[in-house]
Amino acid sequence: SDTEKGTYNHFMLKEIDEQPFVIRNIIQKYQNSDGNIKLDKDIRQAINDADRLYIIAAGTSYHAGLVGKELMEKVAEKPVEVHIASEFLYNEPILSKKPLFIFISQSGETADCRGVLVNVKKQGYKSLTITNVPGSTLAREADFTLHTYAGPEIAVASTKAYTAQMAVLSILAMDSAKAQGIDTDFDAMQELGLAANAMESLCDQKETMEQIAKDYMSGTRNCFFIGRALDYHVVQEGALKLKEISYIQAEGFAGGELKHGTIALIEKGTPVIAVITQEHINLNIRGNVQEVEARGANACIVSTDRTKEEGDHIVMPDIHERMTPIVSVVPLQLIAYYAALHRGCDVDKPRNLAKSVTVE
Ligand code: G6P
Repeated sequence: SDTEKGTYNHFMLKEIDEQPFVIRNIIQKYQNSDGNIKLDKDIRQAINDADRLYIIAAGTSYHAGLVGKELMEKVAEKPVEVHIASEFLYNEPILSKKPLFIFISQSGETADCRGVLVNVKKQGYKSLTITNVPGSTLAREADFTLHTYAGPEIAVASTKAYTAQMAVLSILAMDSAKAQGIDTDFDAMQELGLAANAMESLCDQKETMEQIAKDYMSGTRNCFFIGRALDYHVVQEGALKLKEISYIQAEGFAGGELKHGTIALIEKGTPVIAVITQEHINLNIRGNVQEVEARGANACIVSTDRTKEEGDHIVMPDIHERMTPIVSVVPLQLIAYYAALHRGCDVDKPRNLAKSVTVE
C-alpha cells in the first residue's frame, strides 16, 4: 500500500521508484477516451483569459514552478512569473491587468502559500491550486484545483510529487497552446510516456548512482551542481535534495555564472555534478565542466549524449528537450538518497524539517 514501505527500507526510495507509474497514471487521468486532454473547461478558460500567470510555491514545488514557466512560455507563449510564496507575501510585485494565480503545493497546506492566496482573493483575482491532496486547504480555497495523482508522499524530501507537478504543468502547457490555436509539435502525453520509460531505466541503475554517491559524497563538506536553461532548474532541485537529507552544503548554479564568483570555491576533489540535456547550450556547459576540472574538481555528468563524456557519466535516454527535467532529476534524487544513507542520516525524517510547514 502507499503508506507502507513494503520491501523498501525507506519511503524515499520507494517513492523514487514509483515515479514512472505516477507519470503513467497522470497520462490516464488527464486523457479522455478520444485521446484529447481532459481538463475542466473553466480552468482552460481561466488560463486563456489571463494575460500572465503567477506561479506561487515553496521549496521543491517552487522548483517545479520554474520548469512550469519554461513549459508555459515556450509551448503556450503565456508569460509566467514564478515567486517564492514567502517573498511574494510581504513584497508583492507589480501585477499585470489580468493575472491568474497558480499555487503549486504537494500538501496543499503550506502557510506561506495560503497567505498569498488569501491576499490575492481579497484583491479579486482568480486562483488555481495544483496539489497532491485534493481536500487540502489550498485546494478548497482556490477557485480551481488540479490533482497531481502521485499518491501519498511520506518521505519529507519530495520526489514523486515534484515530477508529478511538472507532468501536470506540461499537460496544461499543451492544452493552453491548443486552446489558443498555437501550432505546436509538442505532444505532452506522448512525451510523458517516453519520459516514464526513461525514468524507469534510470531507476534500474541504482548501483551506478550508489557508487557515485560513495565516491563523491562520503567525505565532502560541499557539492556543486551546474546546468543551464532548464537544466539549471533541475540542478537547483538536485542540490536541495542533497542538502535536505545528507546535510552536505550544496548549491545549484547556472553554469555561466560560475566564473563570476563560485569558481573560487572549487578545490581539489570538490564534487561537481553537471546536467547537460539542452542541445543549444551543450558546448557552453561542457566548457564550464572543463573550467572546474582544470581547478581540480571531481566532475560527474548527467547527459543524453553517449559519446562525448570522459570520466563519470550517467547516460539518460534521449527524450524531448522540454521534458528532460522529469527524467534528469531521477539520478540526482538517487545520488542524494545514497549519499544520505552512507553518511548515516535519517533519510525519511531529516533533522529540522517538516513535511508540510503550516506556519509562516
Ligand atoms: C516543506 C517541505 C518541502 C516542500 C515545501 C513545500 O518545506 O519540507 O519538501 O517542498 O514544504 O511544500 P508543499 O506541500 O507546499 O509542496
